[in-house]
Amino acid sequence: MRVLGIETSCDETAAAVVADGPTILSSVVSSQVDLHARYGGVVPELAGRAHLELLTPVIAEALERADADGTPPVDAVAATCGPGLVGSLLVGLSHGKALAMAWDVPFVGVNHLEGHLFASLLDHPDLEWPLVVLLVSGGHTVLVLVEGVGRYRLLGQTVDDAAGEAFDKVARFLGLGYPGGPAVDREAVHGDPAAFAFPRAMRDDGYDFSFSGLKTAVVRTVEKTPEAPTADVAASFQEAVIDVLVTKARRAVADTGARGLCLAGGVAANSLLRRRVEAFCGADDVAALVPSLAMCTDNAAMVAAAGQWRLANDGPSPLSLGADPNLFFSFTG
Ligand code: KG4
Ligand code: ZN
Repeated sequence: MRVLGIETSCDETAAAVVADGPTILSSVVSSQVDLHARYGGVVPELAGRAHLELLTPVIAEALERADADGTPPVDAVAATCGPGLVGSLLVGLSHGKALAMAWDVPFVGVNHLEGHLFASLLDHPDLEWPLVVLLVSGGHTVLVLVEGVGRYRLLGQTVDDAAGEAFDKVARFLGLGYPGGPAVDREAVHGDPAAFAFPRAMRDDGYDFSFSGLKTAVVRTVEKTPEAPTADVAASFQEAVIDVLVTKARRAVADTGARGLCLAGGVAANSLLRRRVEAFCGADDVAALVPSLAMCTDNAAMVAAAGQWRLANDGPSPLSLGADPNLFFSFTG
């Protein structure tokens, strides 16, 4: 079975074809980073318009690279239906439904967050359950116990900013540009992570996260000591975020008896997070499932893979399915 995946929830216009296995036959991502960079963040109206322009050629390229030229070219269409920017979601969702109708194949709506989990499955098809997943993106910071595909238990989530949002806001404040996560990651390489003792809110209790106080602490520190090297501030900030993420994730794996930790979402591309997760999993003798860089950030292969699974388990979605900007996981308990 071949599934066309479509992803337009934020600022990447992406299409991919995935076959049983799942095997990625093609994955095309057109990033809008240059479009939004001058505004220091994603401008929703511009993102929606850009998806409209880019999506048709991106899908055509994904089909061509997958040699999908039959009638119909694929057996099903999957598109992200939430969470994300509503105008952007609607472009991909409407496009996906229209193609499914025209080709007379099933359509399935995909939860972007579940898509991020499938990104790790694409990279590690033989994983063993249960697993703790740390999903860290621009909009979410969530610790989930996955008992099997589709069986999720919420352990904790952020009570204010998402980890990626904290990276983006601090990068903007430090003048490091957009997107902020990779910029902080690069700058931190030259800095001293112990230069500033930034707060680690809620690190040692529970599984919830809070990052807004840390962002304020960075601003106060720079205002008080404007001569502080930016690299030291970036490295100390990054150390504080990753310390909290890793401490909680490690505790969650130990408390639940999970077989390993799986990283997902854009912040999973962070070099320090990846190193620390591999180090603690090695020390604790559990599996470290760290996706490739291409599978951390938004792409449509993960949407096609999640769609393929949802289709097999729940059947197709109705064509009346709407975009839900606030969609979250459905938890089993
Ligand atoms: O999953 P994603 O591509 O989009 C959302 O669904 O939000 O995640 C984007 C987020 C942004 O906040 C970006 O700054 C962050 O992931 N990010 C990083 C790194 N690369 C991307 N954060 C820290 N370090 C990185 N290397
Ligand atoms: Zn994402």
